[in-house]
Amino acid sequence: MVTSCQLLLLILLLHFSLFHYISSVGINYGTLGNNLPSPKKVAQLLQSTLINKVKIYDTNPEILEAFSNTGIDLIVAVENYHVSNISSDVSAADEWFATRVVPFIPATSIVAIAVGNEYLTTSSAQLDSNALVQAMQNLHAVLTARGLDRKIKVSTPHSMAVLASSFPPSSSTFAPNLVQTIGAILGFLADTGAPFMVNAYPYFAYRDNPATVNLQYALLGNATGVRDPKGYVYNNMLDAQIDAVRSAINALGFGNRSVEITVSESGWPSKGDPSDTAATPENAKTYNTRLIERAQSNKGTPMKPKDKIEVFVFALFNENKKKGSATERNFGIFNGDGSKVYNVDLSCDFCSNNGGTFGFGEKVSSGVVRGPSVWCVAKPQADEKVLQAVLDFCCGPGGVDCREIYESGDCFQPDRLLAHASYAMNAYYQMHGRNYWNCDFKGSGLVTFSDPSKLTTCIL
Ligand SMILES: *[C@@H]1O[C@H](CO)[C@@H](O)[C@H](O)[C@H]1NC(C)=O
Ligand SMILES: *[C@@H]1O[C@H](CO)[C@@H](O)[C@H](O)[C@H]1NC(C)=O
Ligand SMILES: *[C@@H]1O[C@H](CO)[C@@H](O)[C@H](O)[C@H]1NC(C)=O
Repeated sequence: MVTSCQLLLLILLLHFSLFHYISSVGINYGTLGNNLPSPKKVAQLLQSTLINKVKIYDTNPEILEAFSNTGIDLIVAVENYHVSNISSDVSAADEWFATRVVPFIPATSIVAIAVGNEYLTTSSAQLDSNALVQAMQNLHAVLTARGLDRKIKVSTPHSMAVLASSFPPSSSTFAPNLVQTIGAILGFLADTGAPFMVNAYPYFAYRDNPATVNLQYALLGNATGVRDPKGYVYNNMLDAQIDAVRSAINALGFGNRSVEITVSESGWPSKGDPSDTAATPENAKTYNTRLIERAQSNKGTPMKPKDKIEVFVFALFNENKKKGSATERNFGIFNGDGSKVYNVDLSCDFCSNNGGTFGFGEKVSSGVVRGPSVWCVAKPQADEKVLQAVLDFCCGPGGVDCREIYESGDCFQPDRLLAHASYAMNAYYQMHGRNYWNCDFKGSGLVTFSDPSKLTTCIL
C-alpha cells in the first residue's frame, strides 16, 4: 500500500537523520547470576529509566523477545567461541543471523552486533585474529544482502590491552603484533560506518598503580588535570584512555576517515577482595554517576571536544556466578532482586510519571511499575478505514508484535478497532522513541499525557 510505504519511508528518514543527536545511556546486561530477575521484568523496569540502549553478550532468545516493542535498542553478540564458525563462510554467518536474530526483528530493535568480546587479547581459546575480521565481513555481507546494513552495525569490543601504551594520550599506538589486524578492522569500520568499541576501566589502572594514579583522576573528577605534551588537559582518565585510542587510530592513517569511538564497557566495582581498597560503594557511586552524566552530555574529549562519545555502563547486575576475583562479581548497579547496590539516579524526566526519582526496581506508591508518561492513541473520531490501515501497517511492516490483540491474546478485549489501533499505535510510538511524528498516522494519532488505560488496560 503506497500510503503506508510513504509513511514508513518518512519515518525511517527522520529516524536516521535525527536519532543520532539524541543523547543516550547504554548499559551492559550480563547474565552470569543465579538470582537475576526474568528478562521480561528487566525490560519492563528499564523502560522507566533513562537507559535506552542495552548490550548483551549473546543472543539469548528470552532477552531478545523481552525487549520487543520497548523503545530500547539492543546490541547482541557473537560469542568468542563462535567467531571462527562465522568466519568460515557467508552462509555460516547467514545461518547464525537467520536463527538467532531474524525471528526477533524488527519488533526488537537490534542496532549492532558485537563480534566477540576482547577477542584479540583473549588467549584462552586459541583464537585466530584473521577469523575475527573475516567474521565481521561475513556478517556485514549478510546484513547488506538482507537490506539491514544501515540499521545494524557490525563491530567488536576491544580491551585497552590492544594499545602498546596509553600515556601520554597523544603518542599512543596499538601493540605492534596487532597493528595489521586492527588496521583491517579499522578499514572495515570506516567503510561501513560502524564505531570502534573499547572497554575502558580507569578502575583497573588505579588498582594496579595506586601510588602513581590519582584517585580523583580515575574517578572522573580531577580538578587540576593532567597535561599531555601536546597541550591537552585531562581531568579524568577515561577521556585520556579514549584519546589514547584515538591517537592509535590516527597513527594507522585513519585520522581523516571518521571512525567513532564507543566505550562499550566502563564501570567501577562496589566490592572486592580486601586488597581492592578502592572497590567501595562510595567510589562506585561516584564513578557511575559521573559516567552516566557524561553519557548524557554532548561532550567529547580534549582531542575532539565536539565528538560525542557513546557509553555503555558495566554493568546492570552484580553477577554472582562470574569467575575471577571478587570485583568481577560486584560491578553491578543492581542486586539480583532489583534493588540498587548503591544509589545512582537513573530517573528519566521524560518517561517518569511525576518527575520523581524512582529508578529501576523502585515502585510508585500504588505498587504499580512505572511506565511511560506519554502515550500515542487513536483519535476517537478517526476514520475507521484509516485506523484499519494503520493497524495493518503497525502489525505488519511497522514491526509491532500484535499477538496480544489477536483473538487469543490477553488484550483482545475490548474488541474494538479503536482499542486495537491504539494498542498498536502506542507500541509503535514507544518503540520509535516517542517522537511526535511517530504518532501521526495520517492524522489519526494523538499524543496524550494522561493515562489511556481506561481505553484499553493493555496500554502501559
Ligand atoms: C557452524 O555452526 C553451525 C550451527 O551451529 C553448524 O551447522 C556448522 O557445521 C558450523 N560450521 C563450521 C564450519 O563449523
Ligand atoms: C590531579 O592529578 C594529578 C596527577 O596525578 C595530581 O598531581 C593532582 O594532585 C590531582 N589533583 C587533585 C585535585 O586531586
Ligand atoms: C588529512 O587531511 C589533511 C587536510 O585535509 C591533509 O593535509 C592530510 O594529508 C590528510 N592525511 C591523510 C593521511 O590523508
